Amino acid sequence: MPRLCPPRRTIALLAGALALTAGVAVAEPAYADPTRPAQARVDDLLRRMTLDEKLGQMTQIERSAPADGQDIAAYGIGSILSGGGSTPTPNTPETWADMYDAFQRTALSSRLGIPIIYGVDAVHGHNNVRGATIFPHNIGLGAARDPRLVERIGRATAEEVTGTGPDWTFAPCLCVARDDRWGRTYESFGEVPGLATANTSIITGFQGRRLDGPASILATAKHFIGDGGTTGGTDQGDTQISERELRAIHLPPFQAAVRRGVGSVMVSYSSWNAAKLHSNRYLITDLLKGELGFSGFVVSDWQGIDKIDGQPGFTAAEVRASVNAGVDMVMVPFEYKKFLALLRAEVQEGRVPLSRIDDANRRILTKKFELGLFEKPLADRRYIGTVGSPEHRALAREAVRKSQVLLKNDGVLPLSKDVRKLFVAGKSADDIGNQSGGWTITWQGASGDVTPGTTVLEGIRATVSARTEVVHSIDGSGIDGGFDAAVAVIGEKPYAEFFGDRPHGLSLDAEDVATLGRLTASGVPLVVVLVSGRPLDVGAHLGDWDALLAAFLPGTEGQGVVDVLFGDHNPTGRLPSTWAAFDQQPINAGDGKQALFPYGHGLRYRLTGDRPR
Ligand code: GLC
Repeated sequence: MPRLCPPRRTIALLAGALALTAGVAVAEPAYADPTRPAQARVDDLLRRMTLDEKLGQMTQIERSAPADGQDIAAYGIGSILSGGGSTPTPNTPETWADMYDAFQRTALSSRLGIPIIYGVDAVHGHNNVRGATIFPHNIGLGAARDPRLVERIGRATAEEVTGTGPDWTFAPCLCVARDDRWGRTYESFGEVPGLATANTSIITGFQGRRLDGPASILATAKHFIGDGGTTGGTDQGDTQISERELRAIHLPPFQAAVRRGVGSVMVSYSSWNAAKLHSNRYLITDLLKGELGFSGFVVSDWQGIDKIDGQPGFTAAEVRASVNAGVDMVMVPFEYKKFLALLRAEVQEGRVPLSRIDDANRRILTKKFELGLFEKPLADRRYIGTVGSPEHRALAREAVRKSQVLLKNDGVLPLSKDVRKLFVAGKSADDIGNQSGGWTITWQGASGDVTPGTTVLEGIRATVSARTEVVHSIDGSGIDGGFDAAVAVIGEKPYAEFFGDRPHGLSLDAEDVATLGRLTASGVPLVVVLVSGRPLDVGAHLGDWDALLAAFLPGTEGQGVVDVLFGDHNPTGRLPSTWAAFDQQPINAGDGKQALFPYGHGLRYRLTGDRPR
């Protein structure tokens, strides 16, 4: 039940007033003194905290959860998150900053004035915010083979997040996707651990050199461990492999993240040989915290503890099992009163040791002190102008260029900017939502004009000469032999998580097949641009195409795709995942299967003179 205690500041003022009348100096409590080392501040604060206040710090709630806005202070809630697509209305950088500050001011009114830490899924830019720069999803960044670029993307994202308030991103996903039927394949940097390991550079981009540095935000290595290795690519499924394979394939990226000082780790929904990760003490405490020496804090996934017993909702047993396994903060995220009551009872009955509670608090509070949240708790609005800025969009365009993989080219590419008549088709030719994919403005993403950006068609129109005739027809109707070339931008519509699982294969959808049929019947040279979160089964169609460019999920800056189509950038991308010839999943480098395009494949243009041809 809530405590009705006056906030820290009121006590300090009263004490100060009394002291003044008595002529006695009153020092601020040690934990409030920024000149002291973080550990000393943690020690002092822990000594002052009640059990309820400690349990509150381990509780993360969704922004829409509080029945009463004061609950954040009354229950000493440690963290708030925006679930995918959970935004203020209207959804603008300013309303985000106002929302964040309001939550923070409530938290600071609690007895000890401990600030919240606010988390968001900024997984390819600050993708919940309309107008933010949307960068390519990780699979495209894996194709770029440029960790320094990825670090720069982390920095740019951190600036946009900081300006709107939040202090923490649930990124990077360091999953190693071994079966492309998995709906989260695009959140992976690729099928080999080395790509995720190299691109942990984004953590340095997010966290900066110091967590209390300008625009630094806490990063999250997720999802620990083996989420990309489940049998059949089933999201939240079972990773049925030996410990040797688990350590060889899925552990290296987390080792690299820990070495980089990642501040948090999120537990995977999946299981390892039928044991749920969320209650796996060996992996979370012995391996991650013990063997790897991870000193940050471990956060559950969304209702992750609910899934331990396979039944809806969470129980005392699941609360106990997850916290004792080493989960420090639970993303409840709605039934926080029930969670607090159950955890309090577990501690009072001696089934969760107070030492575990103190260890969790020590980890969480250390990051809050290191982030400087006690000194600078409110949104740093100096960065609000970076949201969707030209500089960040230019960086995103560079990333898009570098993430394009040219798989086939019979000579039709690069296109000439002076081409006479160009036909552009496909459901994703003029669709920001499709080219951005899931986790964009909403959790699942959506087709259509979801946020400002440049579509491939807009990029083409901006690139060709004034004399060029560009005709756009989504389904390809109207094409005839009079066109010099046709560009079909096809692939996948947005999805996220298990909604993207494709257990029955990765064929093109009927809409794309029909469009392609109209185009190939015309006999016009055909360039296919595939906007997808993963390799799709195109083997049966490839012979009808004169060129194939894998664009993956480029985000808002579709001009980067066009830069490659017209040779302003000679394609450098290389496949981050083996491309199956047909329904061969799982298929990965070294497994002996005959792929359509092997891992690492990527063509370049031959240079003639100063231009690629
Ligand atoms: C989701 C995802 C996780 C995300 C979290 C918060 O279910 O599994 O990646 O960070 O919930 O949105």
